Amino acid sequence: MKKILFVTSEAHPLIKTGGLADVSGSLPKALSELSQDIRLIMPNYRSVKTNGHVRFLCSLRIDNRDVNILETRMPDSQVIVWLVDYPEFFNYPGNPYTDELGNAWANNAERFALFCRVAVACAMDRINQGWKADIVHCNDWQSGLVPALLSLEADRPATVFTIHNMAYQGLFPPSHIMSLNLPGQLWHQDGLEFNNMLSFIKGGLVYADRITTVSPTYALEIQTPAFGYGLEGLLAYRREALVGIINGIDMDQWNPETDAYIAKRYGVASLTDKQANKEALQQQLTLPVNAELPVVALISRLVEQKGIDMVLDCLPEMMTMPMQFVLLGAGDKDYEQRLQNLARLYPDKMALTLGYDEALAHTITAAADIFLMPSRFEPCGLNQMYSQRYGTIPIVRKTGGLADTVIDATPQTIADNTATGIVFTEASSGALIEAIKRSMLLYSNRKIWNKMQIDAMQKDFSWQRSAEQYLDLYENI
Ligand code: ADP
Ligand code: GLC
Repeated sequence: MKKILFVTSEAHPLIKTGGLADVSGSLPKALSELSQDIRLIMPNYRSVKTNGHVRFLCSLRIDNRDVNILETRMPDSQVIVWLVDYPEFFNYPGNPYTDELGNAWANNAERFALFCRVAVACAMDRINQGWKADIVHCNDWQSGLVPALLSLEADRPATVFTIHNMAYQGLFPPSHIMSLNLPGQLWHQDGLEFNNMLSFIKGGLVYADRITTVSPTYALEIQTPAFGYGLEGLLAYRREALVGIINGIDMDQWNPETDAYIAKRYGVASLTDKQANKEALQQQLTLPVNAELPVVALISRLVEQKGIDMVLDCLPEMMTMPMQFVLLGAGDKDYEQRLQNLARLYPDKMALTLGYDEALAHTITAAADIFLMPSRFEPCGLNQMYSQRYGTIPIVRKTGGLADTVIDATPQTIADNTATGIVFTEASSGALIEAIKRSMLLYSNRKIWNKMQIDAMQKDFSWQRSAEQYLDLYENI
């Protein structure tokens, strides 16, 4: 049994902005079910939703600051959660990284440097709990300083750093090396320095014993300039230590047979009941109720990564096709504005919900026929797996985890029951619209469509296999 400290900046259902939270909510659970002694550490933001059972664990003094550690558990699991309580940094409304207007917190470097130092102290049992980690598993740049700081310790735990997204690196002006009081020996080109900036993510990429990312395809892509953002050389250099492990999904939370959010539950044996969800959604979003029309859906952060510009380009042509389009998302104000303008033009064909809505995400996933995910890059992506589980056929671009989890419908794959979606390659609106047309054609052939739905619903996206791969990795460091 290994003692694992899982360091993350968000975890569902405590707090979530994206897929990192889903992974941090479910991977530690899966590891604890494999009999590992795992604890999760994250900041105690104001919006953290615990189920009320929180106790004071200890306090420690770090960098002239008095920090408390609070202890709770992940709901419905044995996983212990340590909340780093430092109100001056974390007790604010808004999300973990930005204020309510979407601007990055001005003191993010200080906030996450403190978080990293506290994680190091906990991993080394400087908080006297009789629990010293064997493995410290870090996630994304917010935890990047942990492997760097641990590398300077004698008798330290082994470190793993998981890249969920290379586009976010935690870059700060070099003056922070002094103001954060970071050890000078970490400041050089083969250390935390990146183009004369302080790079938090490099702390993970340079100093962790093993690097993982969330799909095998993305593990290859990030070793190329198009996806590595200048760090492709470092990643290629560390390729022996780098592995892609595909994310799983929480099979209990995302299960159409038990989902409490949806109008009518259904499964492979009762697939016709999926229709009732479509009608309920059409009513809810005041679209014309029509069981025949395919509903195309998109649920996403509205950022460049997700190919929203391509969707915007395609929308006028999509609106000439026999379909309805439903979008739930929040993000860049420019995308939000342009989407709003289009939604006003097509009130009978398009329903736009701006904001973050967990319940509606489930409702839409169950109700839609087709799920759109034309990402420019996608380290793993979870929605294409959720939709397959719900018999909602995804249209995805062949990149990262999308390439690894969706099998394109061709005569061959349809015949051998492996087709579960529509995959296109080029990142252009032309290629996307062709893929959408292809999905319309397939949808009109009920027999093939039903077969694809059933094959998609039966795919195994559970955490089991991936958690075992992480365990293997821990054991072989
Ligand atoms: P990323 O982490 O890049 O945003 P993922 O596909 O890994 O992408 O995970 C996104 C997660 O966030 C999914 O669980 C998705 O359902 C959820 N999500 C994204 N936007 C919204 C929204 N506006 N409302 C509700 N859930 C959302
Ligand atoms: C990131 C990626 C997404 C991935 C998620 C969880 O947010 O953008 O592709 O699924 O992390 O690993």
